[in-house]
Amino acid sequence: MTDTASLDAMRVNEHGYPVFRLGEFTFGRDEYFAHIEWPTGNHTMSIDAFLRALQRDVAWNFFYGTVNFDDVVGTVNHYGNVDLFAGSFNESYRKAELDHLENFPSDFIMDTFKAMLDAWTNADFDPFAAPEETGSAWGDKAGSNTDAVTRRRVTAQRMVGVPGGEELRTDENGFPINRQFADVAQTQPEIHAEPGFENEVAAFNLFAYLSRSNVTWNPSVVSVCKDSLYCPTTEEYILPIIHGNDRVEWFVQLSDQIEWVVEDKNTGAMRARVTMKPGDVAAMPADIRHQGYAPKRSMLLVWENGSPAIPELIATGKAPTYPIDF
Ligand code: PHB
Ligand code: FE
Repeated sequence: MTDTASLDAMRVNEHGYPVFRLGEFTFGRDEYFAHIEWPTGNHTMSIDAFLRALQRDVAWNFFYGTVNFDDVVGTVNHYGNVDLFAGSFNESYRKAELDHLENFPSDFIMDTFKAMLDAWTNADFDPFAAPEETGSAWGDKAGSNTDAVTRRRVTAQRMVGVPGGEELRTDENGFPINRQFADVAQTQPEIHAEPGFENEVAAFNLFAYLSRSNVTWNPSVVSVCKDSLYCPTTEEYILPIIHGNDRVEWFVQLSDQIEWVVEDKNTGAMRARVTMKPGDVAAMPADIRHQGYAPKRSMLLVWENGSPAIPELIATGKAPTYPIDF
């Protein structure tokens, strides 16, 4: 077991929470905060924001590129191994030489992150839920919410609704319509397949499917065509991470509104604010980081190119950081 060292090192503090170590990083929590320490510095995050970020990093297996928990701490996915960093993408920390970065095998850091997420999430709190739809993260250790923090991520092999694949969401299988999507039509498309092709033609109502999502800021793969992944999601409040892209991604705003703050990936310098309204399409370049703000529950289609070759092509200048020349 690769996680033995880090889990052996844990002790339970006066608030009932285990302390975790990853290399020279130490992670502790108290009633309100996560405290992160490394040899040249330390950092404090509100525990609700920390757990929401940690939940995404765990559920998305470190995602594409950089997952900044905030403007100091985060991870960089090298697909097999992962950097854990503090201040490495913050110009002030770098100038003051307070930054610190360590690389770990993905399984090793994942085991510790999973244990931390489970141990630090109390019975009342669901890090994936909208603020109005969950209890509080605060206080001394009070139970656990393992079912919520170990939700299975939807990753269709072909498309949602295809026989043998990801099921459609219904009241019966535990996915009622979200309070903010009560007006979304629940009709399904009619399929008239030629005899013999009944199992090869599929269609579903994506708006109805999304109206029944019980999580926020959690792109799920609903259709796959080679490396082209449709990853729609429902959003409310703030994207709990600041995502540093290692490839271009496209956004299609399907309903309501999201404001995006776009910064330079390495320094955090402001690059743009983008307000997306229904029908708007945007491409996020590969050299930025971004965080979204959704004033009410909204539907967003994130379109990813999942090719494992892309980060290297961009890093070596063989592919551009932007999607298209006009
Ligand atoms: C993104 O980083 O592009 C992203 C992540 C989660 C979402 C939406 C967008 O829910
Ligand atoms: Fe992104």
